[in-house]
Amino acid sequence: MIKKFDFLVIGSGSAGLSFALDVAEKGTVGIITKKNSAESNTNYAQGGIATVLDQYDSFEKHVEDTLIAGAGLCKPKVVRMAVQSGPDMIRKLIELGADFTKSNEGKLHLVREGGHSHNRIIHADDMTGREIERVLLAKAGMHPNITILEHHFAMELITEHHLGQKVTRYTSEKNCFGAYVLDTKTEKVEKVLAKATLLATGGAGQVYLHSTNPEIATGDGVAMAYRAKARVSNMEFIQFHPTSLYHPESDSFLISEAARGHGGILRNKKGKAFMADYDERADLAPRDIVARAIDDQLKKHGDDHVYLDLTHLKKEDIIKWLPNIYGKCLSLNIDMAVNMVPVVPAAHYICGGVWTNIDGETTIKGLFAAGEVACTGIHGANRLASNSLLEALVFARRSAIKAMDYIQHISHREDIPEWDDSGTVNTEEWVLISHNKLELQQVMWDYVGIVRSDLRLNRAFRRTKLLHVEVENFYIRTKVNVPLCQLRNMIAVAYLIISSAMERKESRGLHYMTDYPEKKEELIQDTIL
Ligand code: FAD
Ligand code: SIN
Repeated sequence: MIKKFDFLVIGSGSAGLSFALDVAEKGTVGIITKKNSAESNTNYAQGGIATVLDQYDSFEKHVEDTLIAGAGLCKPKVVRMAVQSGPDMIRKLIELGADFTKSNEGKLHLVREGGHSHNRIIHADDMTGREIERVLLAKAGMHPNITILEHHFAMELITEHHLGQKVTRYTSEKNCFGAYVLDTKTEKVEKVLAKATLLATGGAGQVYLHSTNPEIATGDGVAMAYRAKARVSNMEFIQFHPTSLYHPESDSFLISEAARGHGGILRNKKGKAFMADYDERADLAPRDIVARAIDDQLKKHGDDHVYLDLTHLKKEDIIKWLPNIYGKCLSLNIDMAVNMVPVVPAAHYICGGVWTNIDGETTIKGLFAAGEVACTGIHGANRLASNSLLEALVFARRSAIKAMDYIQHISHREDIPEWDDSGTVNTEEWVLISHNKLELQQVMWDYVGIVRSDLRLNRAFRRTKLLHVEVENFYIRTKVNVPLCQLRNMIAVAYLIISSAMERKESRGLHYMTDYPEKKEELIQDTIL
């Protein structure tokens, strides 16, 4: 079966939807998304969007904070462009109907998060992502040029490789003609042809045993792009959010950094506020520092969690500032105004991804990438809090401008073969998939986490290679299904993370190696795979 659009968008989070709304003015758009359209990392974003709106703040300060957090690897031109575009992005969301929280004076309410020198996070209570997803989906759903295909899973990007031509990562020119997509209701693989394709598949938190990310975050976009021989970079920089809830009934529910922005204090089990021992910014130090400090406290004291203490704040303020988080904790018998909240770090964000230039173009023609799947150069070795929604919106816009121009000179490729599933059978061995997935997540958590070493990385590499061989053997014999494709993608992403981490023989930003605890000036460069 064939579907044809001018623009194919893979993913219905903030990046995919905002790109779709822009390009829909110039052509037909197909958005494919693997579950319900709202299911995305975007939908769970809590804290907000970092943007300079206060008269005493400045673009320069936001740029500087971003560069400091990024530990030498941000691209200053990209950072400056993104920061300067922020106010326009917010204006556009408000025009679309987004209802952000206001101060008593009726202005947008701004909070502070770790690594920011000023209050500059605009938010919709503590459910900012839900509000963004709501307005973007409502607009996209009404647009006559946009078709949203839910429960459609992108399996492979179509390039010259599918026409029997040899494609290499660094030498050959490559073009993207669309994607092979599994309709999970009919279980049929369709060809979706497009003149331009946007990868907006989000993050990969599910590669780790504990993650704040929802189940969709399996790194499919990075894996597909890598298989299609696109350039991928900086995959070693995995951000662990310092404060995810430690509770058996709610693994890794995020307790927003805004909680510390409002005055929350991290304490160890003895009650000591420990962050000042690690950084002069104490609880508002950038995330890499806070997550490592917690890890150190847990190891030093043999504890399984630390606490986030808001009990010195007024109950009505906590409820006003963090209504969703307060409600969630209360449902687990934790009253944040009375009880300290048990927290641990969890995998949260991937700074690396599919390499793009400042206009969202990848190394494959006709393939653009925006949002968490991309590595644009804004985050460097460590993302500053609330800069990722900003990045998703800004790069969706830049990609849209380029893609609208690009399709002027392109027609659909008509000679793409159907998906070939000859020699494959339906599987009954679901246990192989679920077991291998758990094994992978455990390996990544234990050996490729907040603190790394050569020994652990080598061990992870060997284990992952074995999983790769097993799963590829299984894949070539089996009719495609989502759990198997996701596992295959997660293994590819794990391989990219481990290989990049093994290449970087220093400690920088989110990548901390016990064997090389210092930054090395000669290593200020991206890891390219
Ligand atoms: P997503 O919003 O994740 O969307 C990806 C889409 O791709 C989904 O629709 C998914 O189903 C689809 N998809 C994936 N693979 C496939 C496939 N193979 N086929 C078809 N569809 C596919 N950032 C901030 O800046 N501020 C915050 O306050 C903040 N809070 C956060 C809180 C939480 C709990 C989490 C998890 C993240 C938070 N982040 C925050 C990060 C931010 O939400 C994400 O980086 C951002 O939303 C990513 O947007 P995106 O459009 O790139 O991807
Ligand atoms: C949070 O609310 O702490 C998440 C913010 C982010 O990931 O940028």
